[in-house]
Amino acid sequence: MGYRSNMPAIACVNGQFSPIETAVISVEDRGFQLGDGVYEVLRTYRGRPFAMEEHLRRLFRSLEAIEIEHRFTPAELERLIRDGIQRGGFAESLVYLQITRGAAKRAKEFLPGVSPTLVLTVRELEAPSAALRAGGARLMTAKDIRWQRCDIKSVCLLANVLTFHRAKAAGFNEAVFVEEDEAVAECCSANLFIVQHGQVATPPKTARILGGITREAVIALARKQRVPLEERRVQLAELRAADEVFLTGTTVEILPVVQVDGQAIGAGKPGPVTEKLQELFQNSVA
Ligand code: PDD
Repeated sequence: MGYRSNMPAIACVNGQFSPIETAVISVEDRGFQLGDGVYEVLRTYRGRPFAMEEHLRRLFRSLEAIEIEHRFTPAELERLIRDGIQRGGFAESLVYLQITRGAAKRAKEFLPGVSPTLVLTVRELEAPSAALRAGGARLMTAKDIRWQRCDIKSVCLLANVLTFHRAKAAGFNEAVFVEEDEAVAECCSANLFIVQHGQVATPPKTARILGGITREAVIALARKQRVPLEERRVQLAELRAADEVFLTGTTVEILPVVQVDGQAIGAGKPGPVTEKLQELFQNSVA
């Protein structure tokens, strides 16, 4: 990845494109005031958006879950995303799309006559560093202090922000949220998988996790290639005792984990099942 662009990131607010620095929203926007909005993050491979349909399906599900009244259609948002990617002109793009309930006098109730705010940003994709990919990530365990609907891709990310900050400040690369009953959920911006005796396991799609698009792609690949995989509860003790652990997400793709709370996972280096899935994933997106 020697390519470095000097081109600026771009934004689009309610249909108006501009450089990201000059894009503005109202101070009364409910996304800003109340965290009253939902979002998606997608990326391109070879300049083409990855899993567009799946991202849009999740976005519309999030919109419905928080009852944002809107007239957007998947086709319209797809056009906007493709337009943004083209205008951005990056070799590979990271696309952020946010829809809030709109700008209105600050109130907790939904107010009539408010139309949603649509923000798109497109910037150059920054892949995780080669050192992190090759060496693997170090995880910190953390109490899950998030709300009860982690399946909604809401912009209310304070618990993720604080936990991620604490992990970074303590020298870790990510944190894994652990429930009251010691089941592990997911990380601050990625889903989690373990491998034990060749068996892959990942926590099931409940309200405790975001149904990751990359997670889904990896599950489909594993099934197709007959890699044994179960969606089931994973306990913290199993995570610590796993032969391999890896994360999935739009930005991290498949990232090996080599330590949890400073303790080595397996041999303390990326394992063979993780590497096989990485290879399958890279082939599938190439
Ligand atoms: N986050 N879990 C959480 C809490 C996430 O925030 C994300 C992605 C994922 C992985 O989902 P996907 O494979 O669809 O990217 C799981 C994005 C990248 C973000 O907030 O920046």
